[in-house]
Amino acid sequence: TVMVRSRMKRRRKWRRVVGILQDLEESCETPLGRLRQMVDAVAVEMQAGLVSEGGSKLKMLLTFVDDLPNGSERGTYYALHLGGSYFRIIRVYLGGQRSSLQVQDVERHCIPTSLLNSTSEVLFDFLASSLQRFIEKEGHESISSQDVKRELAFTFSFPVKQTSLSSGVLIKWTKGFAISEMAGEDIAECLQGALNRRGLDIHVAALVNDTVGALSFGHYHDPDTIAAVVFGTGSNACYLERTDAIIKCQNPRTTSGSMVVNMEWGNFWSSRLPRTSYDIELDADSLNSNDMGFEKMIGGMYLGDIVRRVVLRMSKESDIFGPISSILSTPFVLRTDSVSAMHEDDTPELQEVARVLKHLGVRKVPLKVRKLVVKICDVVTRRAARLAAAGIAGILKKVGRDGSGGGGRKSDKQVMRRTVVAVEGGLYSNYRMFREYMDEALIDILGDDVAQHVVIKAMEDGSSIGSALLVASSHSVRTIASV
Ligand code: GLC
Repeated sequence: TVMVRSRMKRRRKWRRVVGILQDLEESCETPLGRLRQMVDAVAVEMQAGLVSEGGSKLKMLLTFVDDLPNGSERGTYYALHLGGSYFRIIRVYLGGQRSSLQVQDVERHCIPTSLLNSTSEVLFDFLASSLQRFIEKEGHESISSQDVKRELAFTFSFPVKQTSLSSGVLIKWTKGFAISEMAGEDIAECLQGALNRRGLDIHVAALVNDTVGALSFGHYHDPDTIAAVVFGTGSNACYLERTDAIIKCQNPRTTSGSMVVNMEWGNFWSSRLPRTSYDIELDADSLNSNDMGFEKMIGGMYLGDIVRRVVLRMSKESDIFGPISSILSTPFVLRTDSVSAMHEDDTPELQEVARVLKHLGVRKVPLKVRKLVVKICDVVTRRAARLAAAGIAGILKKVGRDGSGGGGRKSDKQVMRRTVVAVEGGLYSNYRMFREYMDEALIDILGDDVAQHVVIKAMEDGSSIGSALLVASSHSVRTIASV
């Protein structure tokens, strides 16, 4: 009887764990009907954000980028890119033709975690010193021998209220950054000041959101590119909008009649989003609660932590993961690259899953439990990817490229134009299942007829290179204007 009782106890615990999984699956459901509602909500919120400042949770920020690079740009340019987990420095050479673009040097570094909650002085001095080292190791053939000032784009992957292409203030930190003394400071000026203090002859010529850099790079290679999305630590999108639709901007005149708008879609919210108790807890524990609700469901920074919270809950409510691991109780220990490694583990014994769990202080879990963990990864990532697809379809709807004849242009229904969306970020490029779920959902939402005209183009380092291209193209406009 003792054995029978313990078997029954085990079964009960297992049922409880399966119940947790089922609850998760139900609350993460994204049937097509719901995705279509999301698409509509995104388009409606975009419109509201364009009409008035604060009209929507979507900030729809002006970027002052109207002319996107076209390939004719010339010169040597630099970009310094502060992302969510990495920073990069690059130098590009442009010879006046697309084919002559050369990325001459790239440096990628992890952002030291100590920086995330340091001060603005420490941050900008860190960036300036990194740039100084980059420049000091340049060969003599580089720009220094040409005796001209170096022109730099600052790719700053955070929400900024821009006042021109080269100036703007930080609205709020996102993605776990909490550097003090930044409110109201002009970001480009801060960097320029730090560079000057080190005696570096570098001009910060543009302040560019990473999505905008990505769009610029995409457009440089393919003029049908009208939007760009970043799936990295955070998530965001920008797109090309007609200036007459940007009602909140009082002086919207641009030579091209359009302007790139940084949506800051991470802050999108709708009561129809499939939210779970784990999302609510994650939000409450975050540095920016009640903010960036969409990003917290699809950003690479958060997916791992959602999975961790589910596993922790199961571990607390049963002993299938052995004694509760203190590592597992630590926020953000489970990173999204480990989630993708577990999710895509194709070894028969799920050794990769076992390895990741071991790192989390969970040892010797039976195969049945490892399979359960894979399922959790699947549910969380599938929801993220499908919501991301709805976001993209929302942009297409807003600009009348979703085949519904929206955007006030009837003819769009008959003639679907080729539409390219540039995509950048590790979550998309390194996580096959995320990519596949997203592509599949986009086809489901748009239907085959429309989807065949929509191209999702993945890029690498596009945000940084594209930002440098923006400096180049604004330069060529100035040069022409001054002739
Ligand atoms: C966060 C930032 C946004 C950036 C995105 C991707 O959402 O607020 O500006 O584009 O991350 O890096």
